[in-house]
Amino acid sequence: MASIYLDHNATTPVRAEVFDAMEPFFRDRFGNASSIHRYGQDARSAVEEARVRVAGLVNGRPGEIYFTSGGTESDNLALKGIAYARRAYGSHIITTNIEHSAVLNSCGFLEREGFEVTYLPVDDYGRVDPGQVADALTDQTTLISIMHANNEIGTVQPVDEIGRIARDNGVCFHTDAVQSAGKLPVDVEAMHADLLSLSGHKIYGPKGVGAIYIRKGVEIEPTAHGGHHENDVRSGTENTVGIVGLGKAAELAAEEQERECRNLSWMRDNLEARIRDEIEDVRVNGHPEWRLPGTLNASFPGAEGESLIMSLDLAGIAVSTGSACTSGAIEPSHVLLALGRDPRTALGSVRFSFGRDNTMRDVDYVMSRLPGIVSRLREVSAASAAQVPV
Ligand SMILES: Cc1ncc(COP(=O)(O)O)c(C=O)c1O
Repeated sequence: MASIYLDHNATTPVRAEVFDAMEPFFRDRFGNASSIHRYGQDARSAVEEARVRVAGLVNGRPGEIYFTSGGTESDNLALKGIAYARRAYGSHIITTNIEHSAVLNSCGFLEREGFEVTYLPVDDYGRVDPGQVADALTDQTTLISIMHANNEIGTVQPVDEIGRIARDNGVCFHTDAVQSAGKLPVDVEAMHADLLSLSGHKIYGPKGVGAIYIRKGVEIEPTAHGGHHENDVRSGTENTVGIVGLGKAAELAAEEQERECRNLSWMRDNLEARIRDEIEDVRVNGHPEWRLPGTLNASFPGAEGESLIMSLDLAGIAVSTGSACTSGAIEPSHVLLALGRDPRTALGSVRFSFGRDNTMRDVDYVMSRLPGIVSRLREVSAASAAQVPV
C-alpha cells in the first residue's frame, strides 16, 4: 500500500545525518556538560558547537541561544519570563487570536495572574495588521508576541514591521518561528526580535529539544530553577544528545533553506491547482503569497475533516485537520474561525504539509484518491442530513 507522509507541520523524521551526529552521544560520549573532567569537556564542546549552529540559523550570536525541551517550553519561557521580569514596568501583553496553544495558554495563565492580554484579530487570510498592533500599545505594554508563520494555514506575519513598532516603543518582541525555521529566512535582526522560539522536530531533528533566542541585555525570569545551567535561564542538565541533533539539523536547514523553499512551493502549488481544478466548492485557507512554502490548508464544505483524514489514511496518505476533540465533541479550529470561516467549513478542512522527501508522484497519488473521497463523504453527509427528523 502507498505510504505518503504529508504532515510535516506536525513533525518531521530525523535525518540520517542528524541521527549519525547524535549516535556517539548515546554511547561513549555520554558526559555531563557541567562536569570538569574530559567526558564533561567533550559534552560541553558539543553543546557549544550546536549553539553556534543554531545561532547561525537565526542570525543571532551563540551567547543569545538557550536550549530548551522544545517549542512549547520556549514559548512559555518567552511569555512568562518577560511578563514577570518586566512586571514593575507594566502588565499588558499583545498577541493574536491565531497563535499556537503554547502561546495562547501561556497568555491565559498570565491573565489569571493579573496580566492583561490583547488578542488581535486577523484578516481573511490570517494576517495581522501592524497598524492594529501599534494602536493596541498602552503605557503598560511590555511584550508583543506574534508568530512568524502559522502552523495550520501557513500564513506568514509582517514580523519585520511589527518588530520595528515594538523596538520604537521600547516593548519586547517575541516571535514563534517553530514552523518557519528551515523553510523561510529567519533573521532576528531583520525582525527586530528580542526573543524567538525554535523546535528540533520540525526541522528534521529530534523531538523534545528546542531553543530560545534571547537578545543580549533582555532580562528574563526563569521558569525552571535549579543548578544554573544555560546561564541561569533554563536549569537542568543539558540534553546533549538532543542538542547535538538540533545543532546538526539547524546547520543543514540553514544550508538548504532556499532550495527547500522552492521545492516545497512547487509541489504545494501543483497540488493546490489540481484540487481547485478537480474538486468543486473548495476554499483554500491562508494567504496566497505570504504563506509557508509547503503548507496547503483547504476546506471541503460538506465533507467532515476527521472522516477525510481517516479515509485518506486508509488510502495510505497521512494529513491532518486543525479541529480538536474536546469532551467527545469535535471543535472547529480556532484559527479557521478567526479567519471568519463558518463552523461547517472549518470542520471540513484538511492540512497538507510537504517535506523534503515528498515528490510530485505523491501529488499524483493524492489526486488519484482525494476527489473520490470528498464526493463520497459529501454524499454520506447529505444523506444523513436528509434523515434528520424535523
Ligand atoms: C507554531 C508552533 N509553536 C509551538 C509548537 C510547539 O513545539 P513543540 O512540539 O516542540 O513543543 C508547535 C508545534 O506544533 C508549533 O507549530
